[in-house]
Formats: sequence, structure tokens, C-alpha cells
Amino acid sequence: LAWLLGRRRRREGEPPLIQGWIPYLGKALDFRLDSQAFLKNNQEKYGDVFTVYIAGWYLKWFNSNQFCNSSSIAADQVHHLSNSTQYVLLLSPGKYMTFIMNPLMYPSIMKYGRQLDFHEFADQVAPATFGYPAVGSGRFPEMGDQIQRSFRLLQGENLVLLAECMMANLNLVLRQDFLGGEGERGAGVVGMGWSTGDLYDFCNSVMFEATFLTLYGMPAPARRHSDMATLRHHFTKFDDMFPLLVGRIPIWLLGRTKAVRETLIRYFLPQRMMCWSNTSQFIARRAEVLEQYDTLSDTDKAAHHFAILWASVGNTVPATFWALYYLINQQEALQAVRNELHQVLKLPEAQGPQQPEVIVSKEQLDQLLLMDSAVNESLRLSSASMNIRVAQEDFSLRLDEERSAPVRKGDVIALYPQTMHMDPEIFTDPETYKYDRFIEGGREKTDFFKHGQRLKYYRMPFGSGSSMCPGRFFAINEIKQFLCLLLLYLDLEMAQGQEKAQLDNSRAGLGILLPTKDVRFCYRIR
Ligand code: HEM
Repeated sequence: LAWLLGRRRRREGEPPLIQGWIPYLGKALDFRLDSQAFLKNNQEKYGDVFTVYIAGWYLKWFNSNQFCNSSSIAADQVHHLSNSTQYVLLLSPGKYMTFIMNPLMYPSIMKYGRQLDFHEFADQVAPATFGYPAVGSGRFPEMGDQIQRSFRLLQGENLVLLAECMMANLNLVLRQDFLGGEGERGAGVVGMGWSTGDLYDFCNSVMFEATFLTLYGMPAPARRHSDMATLRHHFTKFDDMFPLLVGRIPIWLLGRTKAVRETLIRYFLPQRMMCWSNTSQFIARRAEVLEQYDTLSDTDKAAHHFAILWASVGNTVPATFWALYYLINQQEALQAVRNELHQVLKLPEAQGPQQPEVIVSKEQLDQLLLMDSAVNESLRLSSASMNIRVAQEDFSLRLDEERSAPVRKGDVIALYPQTMHMDPEIFTDPETYKYDRFIEGGREKTDFFKHGQRLKYYRMPFGSGSSMCPGRFFAINEIKQFLCLLLLYLDLEMAQGQEKAQLDNSRAGLGILLPTKDVRFCYRIR
């Protein structure tokens, strides 16, 4: 009854309000099951702008009077729970979220820098997820600004050095550990023809380690591979729980997640990081900023570094998987991208890893337009990030030339670009991978239309406006570098009888979706 009485009533002129009839839960279940379909259905019913009440939710189950396990499970898995199992639905605080579904309205929303704030939301979610005190709490004057400034070290001229370093690290990891160098995995591969592997696992081990070495430096050369495997193992465990932590489920309800997070944070304690060599300017600068605050403990500083680890690999690894997966599945695309690479590098047809290692410069990377298109196409198909802003006051939000909508202080304004990425009016056959979709007449294609009007924003895997991902240029570079080396060194095919990889929607709204399960692939040195 309290819930019914406390329910929001729609005010004159406000967008249609969708609250659902499950007390406190609102439309969270529908959203979680298939956010894309949920939003499209509501757009058809209510138009381009509507407000939905959504809470975070989580099922915890108990078996035979004993605490058994805890995890988020999709509603369609509930029937697998045996009769002796009792389960409890836990909810985190709900929010009224106003979705803007028409991409022609996006530019207008982005102009509201002052009234629609990103950092308030980030400052609530990131500390609870990664375990450091909120940056904007007043205890750390100017820290937010200093951190924002440090992001410049991921861009512009600094990218050249980062790209060089990443290239060397990719060569190191790939050649030593996988392609017949000194590493245990590589041994025996050379000369044996085709080898098989799990594609996601492969992308994960190479990109995780090479990205780590590029940003944080080399912790202990002698134990490089085994140390990294342990770090990655813990990281994956944490990452599995990431959507729940972002959904504001308290960490103490998530089984061993707190202990795993503590282990990960300890890895980045200042006294350890001081001994690492070749740390990037970006991470070194962040360490300097954190050192300025006596109010931060060493563990807090380490937690900040851990958060950047998540930001730098959490999306890049699945993005790399999809970029490679689609190419391997479409050999014509793979060959076209490989041909472009040979042309730009002016290399002979085959370039096995026995040859001196290949270095692709930043300048050459920028010339790989077809590869760029292929990577962007895979990002279009796999990204499901939600762009969130919190209204700082009651105000009237101008949507376009004719329309505006009143917004209440504290409400969330959300853009969900996946619906744009999959809109058949903007992208013909949106479900189909077309590696050359973003290239026309030898140049990047930038004109995409909705209702006959040219779109300013048509690809948004990296967010938008003030909160746009500062690592986006580095990310695209490193994915391209990874593809360059693989296409030069290896023949690649899917293993026989592999089912099509499917997107796992459990982290819809949070970035690049993972595949529901790994796929087998075959590779052979060229
Ligand atoms: C933020 C996507 C790689 C560092 C974000 C956001 C998205 C995103 C969607 C939030 C933007 C918003 O809410 O508007 C991606 C994708 C990547 C990627 C798809 C790979 C394909 C990276 C890399 C780094 C990085 C490699 C670092 C080296 C960050 C940071 C933020 C961020 C620090 C927070 C920015 C802030 O607080 O203002 N990223 N990212 N990202 N990303 Fe990335």
C-alpha cells in the first residue's frame, strides 16, 4: 500500500510514465531480460521520449538451510532452481529514467552540460564498485579536475608513444607465448600446421597482458606470464559480478567478490608499483595526483589504479573478440583487410613470426581505413552502453526545434545508442556484419540519416559529450594493432561445427557485450 501511495504521478507535459505493477521493482525485470526489445516496444507505444521506473535486482538462493551461492540469474533460469531451494529477491534503490530514443535529439541533450551531470552518477557508482572513497566528497579538493586532466595523456601526441609501446608488447606476448617463442604455450606450435584454441580466451590473454604492460609497465619480467594469468583469473571473477556492483547490490551480498576485489587492489599498492619499469606517463601522472592526498590510504590509491585496469580492459577485450570473430567468420572481409594491410606496409604476401617482428607505426595504422571500418562495424554490433546524466534541477529539456519536456531534479536522462546502432532506417540490414559499411569511395563514410536528416551522432560505443571515453583512440589503435599482427602472422579460421556466437545481455547498458560462450578457432603460421 505504501508503495502504491508513494508512486509517482505524471505531471502535465511530462513524458509518458511507465512504472509497472511489481512493487519497488518497476520495469527492472523486463529491462534486464532484453533491454533493446523493451525500449523499442515502449518507443512504439509511447513515442521517442518516456520515463521508466527501474530498480537494480538480484536473486540470492539458499539450499538445504545452508548459504549456497549467490549470483545474478536471468529470469528464465529461475525454473532450474530445485524445490528445496529458497530464493530471495534483493532490490537496490530504483530510479526514474527518461529515455531519449530519437538520435536526432542527441545533440540537443549534449548541450546541457550544467543541468545534466555525468560525474555525480559516476561518483556514486565507481566508489561502490571499485572500493575507493568518492572523489567528489569534498575530502579531495581538485582531485576530479586533476584526474580529468590526466586523461589527456591518453590522447594526441601521447598516443604515438603508447602505440609504439603497445606494438612492442603485443609482439612480445604473441610471439613468445603463442607463436613458438620461449613461452610454454607457444612451444611446439611452429611447424605443426593448424592449432586450435578458444577465441575469447586467446583475445583475453593477449590483450589483457599487452594492455597491462603498456599502461602499468613490467612488474616482474621473470614471472610475467604466470603473474598475469593469476591477475587475469581474479579480474574475470570480479568482472562477472561487475553488473551487480554497478546495479548497487552491496558487495557483502556477493559471495567471495569482496575478497577477490581486495586481492586485485593489493596488486596495485604504491610500494609494489614503485618497482615496476616502463610505466606509462598516464599511470605515472595518476599516481602523482593520488600521492598529493594524505586523506587517501595506500589501499584507496591502489583501488583507483585497479579501476583504471577495469576501464582499460573491461571493454577492450570483448571488443577485440568481436572484431576478430567477425573477420574470421567472413573470410572475404578478412582477406580484404589483410590486402589493405599489405599495401600500406608494403610487405610481401606472407610474413610469419619467424621473420623480424613487424612494427606498424601510428601513421600506418591511421591509413588502414578498411580495418577501421571493420572494427567500427563490430563495435556497432556488440556495444550496448547507456549514456547517463542526472538532472541537477527541475528544468525544461529542449528535445528539438519543436519539443521540450519538463525534467525533475534527481531524474536520470538516458541515451541508449544500441537502438540507434540497430535501426534499419540508419543502417540497412542492421543485424548483418558489413565490414566496409563505414567506407565509401576510399574515404570514411560519415553520412547516415534518420527521417531524411543527417545524423550528427550515428556510432556511440564510447559514450558521448563530456563523459566520452578518454581511452577511445588508444582502444581503437590497440585493437587494430592486434588485428595487424594476427593477419600478418597467421591464417585463421573457425573450427568446424561452431555455432554462431551470441551476445550475452547480462551487462546491457554497461559497454561491450560478451559472447554467451566461447568459440573454437584454428590458426596456422603463414
Ligand atoms: C569511460 C567505452 C576502452 C578509459 C567509458 C565510457 C564508455 C567507454 C561507454 C563511459 C562514457 C559515458 O558514460 O558517456 C569504452 C570502450 C572501450 C574502452 C567501448 C574499448 C573498446 C578504454 C581504454 C581506456 C578507457 C583502453 C584506458 C586506457 C576510460 C575511462 C573512463 C571511460 C578512464 C571514465 C571517464 C570519466 O570518468 O570521465 N569508456 N572504453 N577506456 N573509459 Fe573507456
